[in-house]
Amino acid sequence: MSDVKEHRLKHVDQKRRRLLGRIGSLAGISILSPTFLLAAGKNQAIAGSNRRAPSYRGVGQGPFDVDLRLRAQPDTAPILPGTPSEVWRYTAALIHGPQNTLTSLGESYPGPLIRLHRGQRARVRLENRLPEDTTVHWHGLHVPSDVDGQPRLPIKPDEDMTVAFDVVDRAGLYWYHPHPHGRDGGRVGFQSYAGLAGPLIIEDETERALGLPDGDQEMILVLQDRRFAGDNELTYLGGTGSMMTRMRGFLGDRILINGRPPEIREVGTQPYRLRILNGSNARIYKLAWSDGRPVTVIGTDGGLLARAQPQPYVTLAPAQRIDLWVDFSDATIGNELRLVSDHYRAGMMGGMGGMMGNMMGGSGLPAGARFDLLTLRVTHRSRDGRSLPTVLNDDLKPPHMTPNTPIRRFDLATQMMRGFSINGRQFEGTTVADDEIVLLGDTEIWEFVNDTMMPHPMHVHGLQFAVVERQKIDDQRGWSELGGGLVDAGLHDTVLVLPGERVRIALTFTDFEGFYMYHCHNMEHEDNGMMRYYRVRS
Ligand code: C2O
Ligand code: CU
Ligand code: CU
Repeated sequence: MSDVKEHRLKHVDQKRRRLLGRIGSLAGISILSPTFLLAAGKNQAIAGSNRRAPSYRGVGQGPFDVDLRLRAQPDTAPILPGTPSEVWRYTAALIHGPQNTLTSLGESYPGPLIRLHRGQRARVRLENRLPEDTTVHWHGLHVPSDVDGQPRLPIKPDEDMTVAFDVVDRAGLYWYHPHPHGRDGGRVGFQSYAGLAGPLIIEDETERALGLPDGDQEMILVLQDRRFAGDNELTYLGGTGSMMTRMRGFLGDRILINGRPPEIREVGTQPYRLRILNGSNARIYKLAWSDGRPVTVIGTDGGLLARAQPQPYVTLAPAQRIDLWVDFSDATIGNELRLVSDHYRAGMMGGMGGMMGNMMGGSGLPAGARFDLLTLRVTHRSRDGRSLPTVLNDDLKPPHMTPNTPIRRFDLATQMMRGFSINGRQFEGTTVADDEIVLLGDTEIWEFVNDTMMPHPMHVHGLQFAVVERQKIDDQRGWSELGGGLVDAGLHDTVLVLPGERVRIALTFTDFEGFYMYHCHNMEHEDNGMMRYYRVRS
């Protein structure tokens, strides 16, 4: 036991030692300090002090077009003015490959933007320098099961794992984040909250030929909400600590973009492409423009839509991405346009959300609160020949359905005192039921029926699917104001299922056999068991 302690403590400096005393008085609140984990983390793997030989997964044959090192480690990062916050974060190094493969999103904690090109063969050495198990999941990517960063293949503290895969997905914005799950529940919520998440872009020739805004005219925005204690310390209400958090998911009281408070960005009189990832644990954004102009959607999780789609607003649930076009060509110098998250009613307890939240030591920014995200100020003239292409994509291939395509039904329900379930089941590792086995090459319709009081962003690993039907079959239970912003066109890996809705998706299981996951991407829901494996076999 004593060398476990030593192992964990080696990350702990004087300030963190002092912190330990303070944490004791904040019941139910975990502060992002390894010291706290030492006291609270009985689900952490016991780490040996000898580093084992690195393990290798995925395609074995080089040469590799891209070779990266990605390390997860405790660190500090400037988030709010004043003292830097303790975080867990990814740092990366390019060992071999195009120079633009890695770019920083700024000074704060989010992982670097990884830019890959369709057709590349990539290899990434994952290094765990955290005091607990982790994995790296490539959210949205079509990769072999053992490269997918699933909880069944954890990387232990001070160990490495090398994964290699072919980049086969459409051009689009994807992301990477941890996916560990221990005996006492998941650690996805905690670890990504601590700072372990980053965006990943895939490019291809078809998209490049469109000449969409790039360089300064392409903005990558990672939206997250966080909560801070005293000296800029990130705090997280553990998923097992509070019933409210378990049911609703964790909500912060401050919004961060790329790990910093919302800011003003200067723009010219030209079009911009905003590529937005909702990297929050549980918050759903209702994205709108401050002047009421329509939101022009050009892409979703799985890349560009066939045609741009104007929306009054866009509902963006955790893990989802949206690609927006906004044009300032006719704007007057000095004008400002704000991207906001508009107000919506969040459940039957909507009005009570704030009050309940505060009572539970909770959010000053309840679900459905209105706030500003980003201010774009037109500061200069710039000439740009670009206009929005009428056809963005003509090779969008949704799964091929026939009248005989089988339908597999998944009931989303509330488990008394235990969070949420899928077909009455909660997470049990790679134990799959008969109705969770699919055949390689098959196309199926999966039907999610939400009979709970909460929206559930349902995510399927390893593929992109099409949303083929959305029906209200019951009362919306106070969440209907998000309905007008759902973008069901295009390809997705995460679909929001509102209370009282039945949503059907079409998916095809190609190339890879083995275990994959499907789950709610409200991270506190998944960590508390609203997650299952499915198995692809031939
Ligand atoms: Cu974003 Cu199971 O993953
Ligand atoms: Cu995923
Ligand atoms: Cu959920």
